[in-house]
Amino acid sequence: MIPINAPQIGEEEIEAVVKVLKSGVLTHALGAGPMVKKFEEDFARFVEAKHAIAVNSGTAALHMAVAAVGVKQGDEVILPSFTFVATAETVVLAGAKPVFVDIDPETYNISPEAVNRAVTKKTGAIVAVDLYGSPADLKPIREIADKHGLKVIEDAAQAHGAVYDNRPVGSYADVACWSFYASKNMTTGEGGMITTNDDEIAEKLRLIRSHGEKEKYKSILLGHNYRMPEIEAAIGIVQLKRLPKFLERRRENAEKLTAKLRPLKNLQLPLEPKGCRNSWYLYTVRVKDADRKKRDTIVERLKKEGIGAEVYYPWPIHLMPYYRKFGKGRLPETEKASEQVFSLPVHPGVTVEQIDFIGEAVSRLVGRG
Ligand SMILES: Cc1ncc(COP(=O)(O)O)c(C=O)c1O
Repeated sequence: MIPINAPQIGEEEIEAVVKVLKSGVLTHALGAGPMVKKFEEDFARFVEAKHAIAVNSGTAALHMAVAAVGVKQGDEVILPSFTFVATAETVVLAGAKPVFVDIDPETYNISPEAVNRAVTKKTGAIVAVDLYGSPADLKPIREIADKHGLKVIEDAAQAHGAVYDNRPVGSYADVACWSFYASKNMTTGEGGMITTNDDEIAEKLRLIRSHGEKEKYKSILLGHNYRMPEIEAAIGIVQLKRLPKFLERRRENAEKLTAKLRPLKNLQLPLEPKGCRNSWYLYTVRVKDADRKKRDTIVERLKKEGIGAEVYYPWPIHLMPYYRKFGKGRLPETEKASEQVFSLPVHPGVTVEQIDFIGEAVSRLVGRG
């Protein structure tokens, strides 16, 4: 089976972990051990942000971000429904109400027009997601936020190395949240990072990361234990160094697959808007005019042939049993996309021959339309 994603771990990561274990410094009481600090410095430089705060998951990053930008109990937070559930779950955990809005059918990312229509007096923040590693359209969202005095959180969990308006993603947001889960473009096993240019938000985030403590046993804020262990940070330092090569391989595979699939008239291929570069975390296609059953059959058949095709995401959040209570209206583009899309493997471990094989299998199963 060619998996949809696979961690790329080598000797250097293993050596880095052993070194930490031998050092005896496994963590730091306030979450700022030597490896964590180095990883934060390196990551901040990579995404051109003033601050980076390492945490133990992307979900932790989002939860902290919602609190740190000042979202209060009962506030509304505008976000897409076509994303991983953590994007919405953390809004609810912070005591706010998720307001789901529709997506752009070409990019699958949150529609700025829909965001604009959803702003009310109760809006506390906007969350945009760089879905599949394709940058969300942050410029108009930034304008809407500034007009209403709102904060913008960018869920960049899938977008390490992605570029928007010729700058690393996250540049237009107040905070950007990253994940280092094992499937991601770079991994620490589990882990996350928050980046920001705002000194005050950064200070708050560092406090929230470790029980709201500036000094031990004297909490000045409501916090949590969201600290990243030193072993993870050591892996992250090595993975970040290797990331440019990983991204190159993903791009090469994505471009080859695009060349193979372009003749298929009934397949919508991934977009890379002007001034943007995708991180190619997921190579996602849409079977135009398919219903859920037809799409699922194609995915099942690909799996039978050893191709780890997957659907991200089969159920938009507003249609999930727990979240139905938050969504009133329909989200037609979101619902349609969830029935028609599927993703194909382009990770660095996929060979040229495997890309050919994937292209041929998809062409045969989807047909020439
Ligand atoms: C869009 C999105 N948001 C949030 C997360 C949560 O990150 P994590 O799994 O590190 O908690 C993920 C990844 O799993 C994700 O893909």
